[in-house]
Amino acid sequence: MIREATVMDIPRINELGELLHENFSNLFKINEMLKDGYSKVIVYEKQEKIVGFISATVFYDTCDILSLVVDPEYRRKMIASNLLTYLISDCGEGLKLVTLEVAAHNTPAINLYEKFGFEIVHKREKYYKNDDAYLMARKSE
Ligand SMILES: CC(C)(COP(=O)(O)OP(=O)(O)OC[C@H]1O[C@@H](n2cnc3c(N)ncnc32)[C@H](O)[C@@H]1OP(=O)(O)O)[C@@H](O)C(=O)NCCC(=O)NCCS
Repeated sequence: MIREATVMDIPRINELGELLHENFSNLFKINEMLKDGYSKVIVYEKQEKIVGFISATVFYDTCDILSLVVDPEYRRKMIASNLLTYLISDCGEGLKLVTLEVAAHNTPAINLYEKFGFEIVHKREKYYKNDDAYLMARKSE
């Protein structure tokens, strides 16, 4: 089941987020995102356990994906794909652009985004401690 996150989900979201950034809960204040009116936090729940989430900010016709994480035990089961599809459709028909940043060596994520029509539009050299970053974008037709 895919649904919007609630405050009850924050500890588990932070736990999954730590797989992406070691200080995830300080970088991304999920409790603030849940009430700021322009962020989306969406979770994928399987047998009452959150096994993945996606978060993004949405301004007018542009959606910027901040985090997308799937529990390692549940990967390669289309969970990230379903979260992305849900987010994009939740943004509505007026959506023109989706953007995100990804580490240049993160092949699983880059493959996933390319499958969804994202293209690499810019490379930020040494953006991460040990890696470059790609800025990827997907324009709606
Ligand atoms: C990237 C991530 C979110 C993918 O989640 P997932 O649920 O396993 O992805 P899906 O099952 O929806 O995969 C969809 C497509 O993505 C690509 N992909 C996913 N995992 C991959 C892997 N390990 N190697 C290569 N391609 C991969 C494939 O094209 C896959 O399609 P396929 O299974 O038909 O080949 C997951 O690996 C993850 O949480 N990684 C750590 C956090 C992270 O890096 N997040 C992205 C930061 S921007």
